[in-house]
Amino acid sequence: MKLVGNEELAHGLKGRDFLALVDYTPEEIQYLINYAIELKRKNKAGEVYQPLRGKSLGMIFEKSSTRTRVSFEVGMYQLGGQALFLSKNDIQLGRGETVWDTAQTMSRYLDGIMIRTFGHKNVVELARGATVPVINGLTDLSHPCQALADYQTVLEHKGKLSGLKVAYVGDGNNMVHSLMMGAAKLGIHFSVASPEGYDPDPEVVELTRENAKKTGASLTLCRDPKEAVADADVVYTDVWASMGFEAEQQKRELAFASYQVNDELMKYAKKDYLFMHCLPAHRGEEVSAEVIDGAHSIVFDQAENRLHAQKAVMAAIM
Ligand code: CP
Ligand code: NVA
Repeated sequence: MKLVGNEELAHGLKGRDFLALVDYTPEEIQYLINYAIELKRKNKAGEVYQPLRGKSLGMIFEKSSTRTRVSFEVGMYQLGGQALFLSKNDIQLGRGETVWDTAQTMSRYLDGIMIRTFGHKNVVELARGATVPVINGLTDLSHPCQALADYQTVLEHKGKLSGLKVAYVGDGNNMVHSLMMGAAKLGIHFSVASPEGYDPDPEVVELTRENAKKTGASLTLCRDPKEAVADADVVYTDVWASMGFEAEQQKRELAFASYQVNDELMKYAKKDYLFMHCLPAHRGEEVSAEVIDGAHSIVFDQAENRLHAQKAVMAAIM
């Protein structure tokens, strides 16, 4: 199947929200990844490509961000449009204006809205109230833009996705939810090792398993990091305390003490394993400096691909 320049797939994406990978078919996700790779090529070649000339993206942030903010803003500029940074506390949303009214109002000015917030229900409500596409820039439940960029990165390094094994070690958080769903859609075997009490959301697990059946992928949950990492092509980890969970830092350090990704653990992975992390990272906690700064680490390729992957999403849906 022709995946870049496929009119039918491209047409089907126009006007859609990008809230979660579960809403996209395997072909659509593959299309977005290929489109991202093509946009990256154009960008490196210095080709000007501006399908979003004259368009505006509003970016609502209720949490901090380096990568998401910069990559969306620069991405929108490169596509010929502009992005507006809207800190929640500086707009009326922070003073109690409803998400619905915010969505309705903003849709009168903007061509798309990206939001980073705590409760996933806020993103869903925003998308319900908006008449322009809404993009999930991270919630407590998921981080689909990161997962899309991550699988683009894996494809670039490994030359394929289907049949690979990705292991995730650590907190059953927003990141692992999007990664496991992406894996199920792309035919990737996914294993998770997390301590008791920090498992991925059972509903997401269930939904992932349903999707995995359709592509021949598998999802394995366990407690032992060595078991999860065994023969893995990719090993991924994320912070032990996500944004909003800072008060639990000490308690989590104890719970996750034996879940650090370090050279000792990596002996169980394939020899040519890739190490991945969405960043920001805490060296000496979820990952040792030797691993994240070592030869197998592709964390800054992931960070770069946020730009290309999100440009693909914006160009496709806006
Ligand atoms: N990975 C990621 O989303 O980074 P930021 O929090 O810096 O946006
Ligand atoms: N799980 C992390 C991801 C940051 C990009 C968090 O939510 O803080």
